[in-house]
Amino acid sequence: MTDFIKTGVIGHPIAHSKSPLIHNYWINKYRLNGTYKAIDIHPDNLQNGVGALINEGYSGFNVTIPHKIAIMALCDEIDDLAREIGAVNTVTIKNGKLYGTNTDAYGFVQNIKANATDFDFTGQNALVLGAGGAANAVVYALLQEGAAQIIITNRTKEKAQKLAQLNPDKIKIIDWDLRNNVLDDVGIIINTTSLGMTKNPPLNIDISKTQNALVTDIVYAPLYTDLLKVARNNGIKTVTGIGMLLHQARPGFKLWNGVVPSVTKELEDLVLS
Ligand code: ATR
Repeated sequence: MTDFIKTGVIGHPIAHSKSPLIHNYWINKYRLNGTYKAIDIHPDNLQNGVGALINEGYSGFNVTIPHKIAIMALCDEIDDLAREIGAVNTVTIKNGKLYGTNTDAYGFVQNIKANATDFDFTGQNALVLGAGGAANAVVYALLQEGAAQIIITNRTKEKAQKLAQLNPDKIKIIDWDLRNNVLDDVGIIINTTSLGMTKNPPLNIDISKTQNALVTDIVYAPLYTDLLKVARNNGIKTVTGIGMLLHQARPGFKLWNGVVPSVTKELEDLVLS
């Protein structure tokens, strides 16, 4: 009998996380001996909470809101990727030590590659709407994949300016109010804001002004946001956000369980149900 592999996701709140559904689906599918739990850790108790996971023999865990930055101080090692993105979302525990990485950029890129197979990031101009945590990973991914120029626009300009420090030569910032003016200058448009999410206001943008861009949203509830619906109705190529969530889970699963899991339609339907 192989060892029982304990993994999970830490966050606060955590009840609505889709990660246990994804990882336990894979654990069953690949007939592995283990489990993946949602673990609520209050921000005031992060160190003790993580210490308990080490003591209980966990192999690793995902990290979600609000711990993605705070966990960095507790890691023994953080890889270059996570350090550049400025957040850790995946931790492996080995001999009581914590190794942090970030798989959000990977998730973003793999989602596009899997669902827009003829799209090539190299040399593209990109428009990134938003400058929060998710935008960080998206901008990093665009740079890694060889995008030519990245335009960032965010309601709070200072946050866009901070994000531009990743590569000031390639990143340009425009005012949030001017977002409609650049829609036809780019090959990919990514909404990383929470606008358009169920119960949130819609993203107000005249997406029909773009002609050749691929439009994608990191929001996946609803799966087809107004942004994606309007784009589709105008014959614009779109990729939904659910694949980013599914693909970002794969490297952690591989690190802890030794199996590269696949993203399937069955898994996507399960997570969306
Ligand atoms: P995440 O980590 O998921 O990216 P976040 O860091 O809270 O979450 O970022 C949310 C993003 O949505 C930000 O870019 C935010 O803009 P601000 O930086 O100005 O807060 C954007 N956002 C949220 N509500 C918005 C609104 N009503 N109008 C414009 N942008 C909004």
